[in-house]
Amino acid sequence: MSIYLELAKSVIINKKNRLISFDKSLKLVGTGRSAFVFRMKSSNKVIKVFYPDYTYNAKEEAEIYKSLQGIHYFPSIYESGPNYIVIDYIEGYTLFECMSQGRIITADHLKEIDYALSLASDVGLNPSDIHLRNIFITSHDEIKLIDVARYRQMKDCKQWCNLKKAHRQFYCKSFFFKKVPAHFLNIVAFLYKKGLIPYYRN
Ligand SMILES: Nc1ncnc2c1ncn2[C@@H]1O[C@H](COP(=O)(O)OP(=O)(O)O)[C@@H](O)[C@H]1O
Ligand SMILES: [Mg+2]
Repeated sequence: MSIYLELAKSVIINKKNRLISFDKSLKLVGTGRSAFVFRMKSSNKVIKVFYPDYTYNAKEEAEIYKSLQGIHYFPSIYESGPNYIVIDYIEGYTLFECMSQGRIITADHLKEIDYALSLASDVGLNPSDIHLRNIFITSHDEIKLIDVARYRQMKDCKQWCNLKKAHRQFYCKSFFFKKVPAHFLNIVAFLYKKGLIPYYRN
């Protein structure tokens, strides 16, 4: 049995998507809407293990990562299985962490994210679900994008355009505090998802 399959099997998630247990060689580095992400200790890879109701995403996300191979803004993919994918570990901070820790996000970072997204469009994808937790600024100040499972959906996703607008209209201004508490960001994200923020609808 593949070592990755064995590790994925060690991850026990209950019906309420609560993490029950996992192999001691894994370290939890992130929790998303569809999966838990673990760094494999003593390696530079992560295994993303999908919740029971989202296992179909493993194949979809693996295929999309494969079509993005060679574009350095995206992690490399090494293996996938029935409910998991194995990709590069990214050392750095998501834009969400940057904002909550007061790490500056510049207009140049945004330009580079735009460029990375344009490369994904060039290979026939439709980048979607582009939000603060799916974009990293690495410790070497490079951009990395993750969570590509929705890049083949047809719907027009305005999240990234709205984030750029908010950066221009608020974040860049001198009055804007560059450090924003995580719970405040979560409230804004909640209101945005509900379509309750005027001029910022998806
Ligand atoms: N390759 C990675 N390296 C480091 N952290 C990661 C990596 N992939 C995901 N994470 C962390 O795990 C979180 C959830 O991963 P993500 O792929 O976005 O899952 P979901 O599809 O459930 O949203 C991310 O927001 C990030 O904090
Ligand atoms: Mg995500």
